[in-house]
Amino acid sequence: MITLHLLLFQAERALAFSQELQREATATGQSQNASTYAIKKEQYSRLRKALAYATELYDIAHELSETPDPRVDPVTLAEVSTYLLQIQATTSFSKARHDEAIVKFVTRRKLLALLSDGAITSHAQALANQSMDESDPLIRFCAYKMGRKQGEIASGQSEVDAIVADFDNDAFEEGLPGYKKLVADVKKFIEERDAVEGGANRQMLEPIRWAGEAIEIRNAEVVRAMVRAQAALKALQSADAKEKEEQEGVKKTAKMRVGSRGKSMKRWDNVLGTLGDAEAVARRQIVDDNDSSLAGGSVLTSSSPTFIHQYILFLLLTYRIRRDLLFIDSMETPTDKSILKAISVQSIKKKAQTSKVASSATSKKKSTANHYAKRDISISRSKREEALKALQAVTKLYDSIVQSVEQISGLTIVEERENVWRGVNGFEAYVKAIKYDFVPFFDLPEASADRPHMCLR
Ligand SMILES: *[C@@H]1O[C@H](CO)[C@@H](O)[C@H](O)[C@H]1NC(C)=O
Ligand SMILES: *[C@@H]1O[C@H](CO)[C@@H](O)[C@H](O)[C@H]1NC(C)=O
Ligand SMILES: *[C@@H]1O[C@H](CO)[C@@H](O)[C@H](O)[C@H]1NC(C)=O
Repeated sequence: MITLHLLLFQAERALAFSQELQREATATGQSQNASTYAIKKEQYSRLRKALAYATELYDIAHELSETPDPRVDPVTLAEVSTYLLQIQATTSFSKARHDEAIVKFVTRRKLLALLSDGAITSHAQALANQSMDESDPLIRFCAYKMGRKQGEIASGQSEVDAIVADFDNDAFEEGLPGYKKLVADVKKFIEERDAVEGGANRQMLEPIRWAGEAIEIRNAEVVRAMVRAQAALKALQSADAKEKEEQEGVKKTAKMRVGSRGKSMKRWDNVLGTLGDAEAVARRQIVDDNDSSLAGGSVLTSSSPTFIHQYILFLLLTYRIRRDLLFIDSMETPTDKSILKAISVQSIKKKAQTSKVASSATSKKKSTANHYAKRDISISRSKREEALKALQAVTKLYDSIVQSVEQISGLTIVEERENVWRGVNGFEAYVKAIKYDFVPFFDLPEASADRPHMCLR
């Protein structure tokens, strides 16, 4: 297996170098003078090297797949084949042999489609899809060079699908000797795998719809991150549903409530963590792709990296808000009444203690009474402090909610959708109104402790 990896690395290195040379040759301009000729020659030499390594890689993998106890499974062999075909196609293409190149390209595409269909994870499927997307323009270009006219497309078919449909199994067999057997092997392998595992190991992305639109994530890394986030969301939802069911008719003790709250918060953390990761991956994708659809002022399409990123950010923020609301809900927020009560109880006790102390005869009794009086005062003070701390925490949470909502309402995908925007805006106004209701408490913590009437309305 180590040999296979080494061959792959060597091939990749040669390929990367040839691509660099190609860029250099393009940069020096169209003029066919001696220097560009030398660069081109070097580029072909590197491509030949890459081809030699890839061929050796394929030969060894093929051999290992034919042994009685195969060490390379058909899916892996198909993956190696697509790699060889890509380098073969690139080589032919760079020599302007378009008829040769297109056979290699379409054979590779057929194999990739097979791998995409049988993929057990959305990540693997997206990788196959991405490889197809990358070579599609080249397939169109070859077909055009070979005299194919545009517009010969059946409905519901992409142009490249139509081009591929012009080729048959014999052509694919020509593209990759052993193609038919490989396809049969891959299908059988996938069938057996699914029969054994029953699809239990699948990590597939659930279809995503947002604001009435289907959202298509094509980048493999973003897909993988979103599969994780969806799993975390599912765990949260099913646990919530179960809890609701259990709660029917059963009165929980305080201890039980605290226990389940801890577990539930862990699930929430997991949701926010995985969504945060997905958001970071999607954000990097915008930079990598240099997605300029935002700068152009055009409406974002539902598969552009910027749209995907904003959608994931939207999800992250809405779940952050829900978690914050849950926090507020779960905190035993002191009410105006409970604070007033604590304070009035305290002053009544104080009075009682003063009279007691005055009437007491012995100094021992006096000191005991003093001790209790102090304790009572400190208890009610700590209660008041607790209440204020809770209020501050709640206000902080509302602050964080307001921030999240403001961020959401600034998203282009939200601004572009009237109904979504209106909903967000309404919620923003609502949260702000509540938040400012709390302000008098926390702006004057000292005053509120000593002169509660100033702050309690
Ligand atoms: C070839 O052309 C490029 C750009 O046109 C130029 O920079 C380079 O000096 C030329 N080389 C020779 C050997 O003429
Ligand atoms: C891969 O492409 C197929 C066909 O276009 C599509 O149905 C599937 O959802 C895509 N999968 C991923 C993960 O993008
Ligand atoms: C990104 O695209 C813009 C315009 O489309 C271009 O001006 C800019 O140089 C590109 N940046 C990178 C890093 O490719």
